[in-house]
Amino acid sequence: MRKIAVLTSGGDAPGMNAAIRAVVRTAIYHGMEVVGVRRGYSGLINGDMVPMTLGSVADIIQRGGTILYTARCEQFKTEEGQRRAAEVLRAHGIEGVVVIGGDGSFRGARVLSSMGFPTIGVPGTIDNDIPGTDQTIGFDTAVNTAIDAIDKIRDTATSHDRTYVVEVMGRHAGDIALYVGLAGGAESILIPEQPYDMDEVIRKLERGVARGKKHSIILVAEGAGSGMEIGRYLAEHTGLEVRVTVLGHIQRGGAPTARDRILASQLGHQAVNLLKAGDSAKMVGVRAGAVHAVDFDTVFSTEHRPDLGLYQLAGILAI
Ligand code: ADP
Ligand code: F6P
Repeated sequence: MRKIAVLTSGGDAPGMNAAIRAVVRTAIYHGMEVVGVRRGYSGLINGDMVPMTLGSVADIIQRGGTILYTARCEQFKTEEGQRRAAEVLRAHGIEGVVVIGGDGSFRGARVLSSMGFPTIGVPGTIDNDIPGTDQTIGFDTAVNTAIDAIDKIRDTATSHDRTYVVEVMGRHAGDIALYVGLAGGAESILIPEQPYDMDEVIRKLERGVARGKKHSIILVAEGAGSGMEIGRYLAEHTGLEVRVTVLGHIQRGGAPTARDRILASQLGHQAVNLLKAGDSAKMVGVRAGAVHAVDFDTVFSTEHRPDLGLYQLAGILAI
């Protein structure tokens, strides 16, 4: 393999730059040429590419976002868009592709593999919702950003005797809410993977009030419901003073944590090693601390489950 491309696709995640750096430097280490494709699959369709050198990935390991930009590209879901992308790859002599993104991006990556372009996926999303890896790049940073916010909210919640509903991201997955809720000492955690009962949330609040606890934090994963609506409901049914904070896109930005940088470095490096070894249609991930590879087909046919042991633990500790 003499020439490969790297792109970032879907929602950005802190650590994507560290992954791009690892891909570029490993490829150059193996004597390959590397091009960066800008704005995900739309850059592939439009031939928006830049040659990558050792210098083009200098000073980015600590930066959030993605220097290659990212996009969601409907056109790539069509046969016409895919045909054009294949023509561009052929015209540039590209023999392999590394796609850094979420499961949607990997569906696109599987299409490229089936069209004869060896492609490896690197899981980059704050949602931590990809089967086949214990953690995705960006999750740890997003959790730490949200924890910082929760700690600050707790200060003001305590000062004012208020109940706070905090909505975090995660799309259909509750991992961010679960980790942030446990690490932030939330009184209740609402995630899409576990049915919840608003009466029980209220009973818990009332039990707290009865023993003199006048402030609470309720963590809501966006996939479990609207923080605004849950806040309104609680205010109406308890008479407590309720405030709602939707953390939003601040969870997607900022310098990646050391953990995300290390994960991104390991996975970006291994993605290139796999291409060099002739592999395709696989995602790299970590399992119990070890880097491994898993077929896209397995990723797509497996359901993501959050760690429900942590959910139970959070429930016991917030009794
Ligand atoms: P993520 O990768 O974060 O899950 P998306 O689901 O938005 O983000 O997917 C990112 C992009 O991947 C889409 O905009 C599209 O270009 C491509 N993609 C998603 N699903 C498919 C599919 N079934 N076939 C081809 N390309 C896809
Ligand atoms: O997949 C990452 C994510 O931040 C989700 O947590 C969230 O639901 C979605 O992307 C938001 O997407 P957008 O940036 O298009 O608002």
